[in-house]
Amino acid sequence: MKNIVILISGSGSNMAAIVQTSVQHRWAERFGVRIAAVVSNRADSEGLALAKAQGIAVAVLDHKAYPTREAFDAALQAHLDGYVPVLVVLAGFMRILSADFVSHFAGRLINIHPSLLPAFSGLHTHQRAIDTGCQFAGATVHQVTADLDHGPILAQAVVPVLPQDTAATLAARVLTQEHLLYPQAIEDWLSRAHSAPGGHL
Ligand code: GRF
Repeated sequence: MKNIVILISGSGSNMAAIVQTSVQHRWAERFGVRIAAVVSNRADSEGLALAKAQGIAVAVLDHKAYPTREAFDAALQAHLDGYVPVLVVLAGFMRILSADFVSHFAGRLINIHPSLLPAFSGLHTHQRAIDTGCQFAGATVHQVTADLDHGPILAQAVVPVLPQDTAATLAARVLTQEHLLYPQAIEDWLSRAHSAPGGHL
């Protein structure tokens, strides 16, 4: 059985959607893959309890316990390497990862960003879309590279921006789509990897 590891920082709603889809769509049986662990950089991440309730190994690596970003990233990399992950999924993981970490997991490191990249990389994406007068917003699943929020795009979902929208109402509309987009993007990735010549993950 191959391992996927999911990194979270907060509510973990995307992680929960991915875990649910992995069970309902029988990823273990179809691709020989399981969600092996959920790791957070915050002990108060609500997603940890969700993962634990699903019998998934959880861990907290508190970034504040490390002297430098590089030291934290090295510890996180070592922890993840213990699972020999075929895929590392950033799901609401609010840390910028060092170039060494990103290159170590190159080709098997993905993220979801709450905008239609390349528009609105960075933070406060929904307010910025509203302030700019965008008529559409959405989310992007992309490969993670050293260029923050700008790796190759794997999938996108679009939602309308409504006249009365606030950042909160738009965020909620986008998040609903994220919960469909991310699991499907991962399943498509697994399916391609599984059916590739010599198709072993
Ligand atoms: C989501 O908007 C996601 O796009 C961003 O983090 C937010 C929270 O995600 N990366 P989650 O509920 O913790 O999965």
